[in-house]
Amino acid sequence: MTERRAKKSSVAVKERKFRGVILPTASHKAIRKVKRAGHDPAIHGTKLWRSSLLIIDYLHKNPPTAAHSVLDAGCGWGITGIWCAKKLHSSVVSLDADPAVFPYLDAVAALNGVGTEPRVERFEQLKKKDLAAFDLLVAADVCFWDELVKPVCKMIDRALSAGVSQIIIADPERPTFHDMAEKMIARHGGELIQWKISGQTKASGALLVINNQ
Ligand SMILES: C[S@@+](CC[C@H](N)C(=O)[O-])C[C@H]1O[C@@H](n2cnc3c(N)ncnc32)[C@H](O)[C@@H]1O
Repeated sequence: MTERRAKKSSVAVKERKFRGVILPTASHKAIRKVKRAGHDPAIHGTKLWRSSLLIIDYLHKNPPTAAHSVLDAGCGWGITGIWCAKKLHSSVVSLDADPAVFPYLDAVAALNGVGTEPRVERFEQLKKKDLAAFDLLVAADVCFWDELVKPVCKMIDRALSAGVSQIIIADPERPTFHDMAEKMIARHGGELIQWKISGQTKASGALLVINNQ
């Protein structure tokens, strides 16, 4: 390898583009600035998790019939909702239990030239009347502990009974996600879909898709 090529390959990738949105990595200067300011997410909202790309890819290939108002639950850095705001022109609420994720979300949203409404709240606190405001509920990688199975199931139950048109939950296929998905499909119907993204940006996992029309 020439010296120039060796130098190039040692430079960390600072951002990627996927389906029309910019995905910054931890070494992007906008992200480093937030980190330096001392914001430290504590419930795994520490990066853009790849499950969010599965939802983006699914929605790109299967445009939703209604996405005027979108809830990104357990949003972390918020890329799923940001994609909906940018590409579907949705009005988006980005909800997370951890307030420390929102400065990162703001940085990612600014890079993408859109905004979403932040909400610090737990799935458990979302009432049927809050959920009735949304057409589409998306959630990426939010069922990673045994203790999260029940709150995620109950959020889905309430969202469906509130009339949310479509629910899409993505996961790298942790057993807890499958436990939740099995319960939800038995109770409400819906589909478990294996999904894979190849090319420069890679991701794989499963999607729970429930249509409520
Ligand atoms: C693995 S991260 C995924 C973040 C984002 N969805 C993504 O794909 O990049 C899980 C997120 O869920 C949030 N979370 C965990 N438990 C929650 C709860 N009970 N209510 C709301 N948010 C929660 C965490 O704070 C974290 O930001």
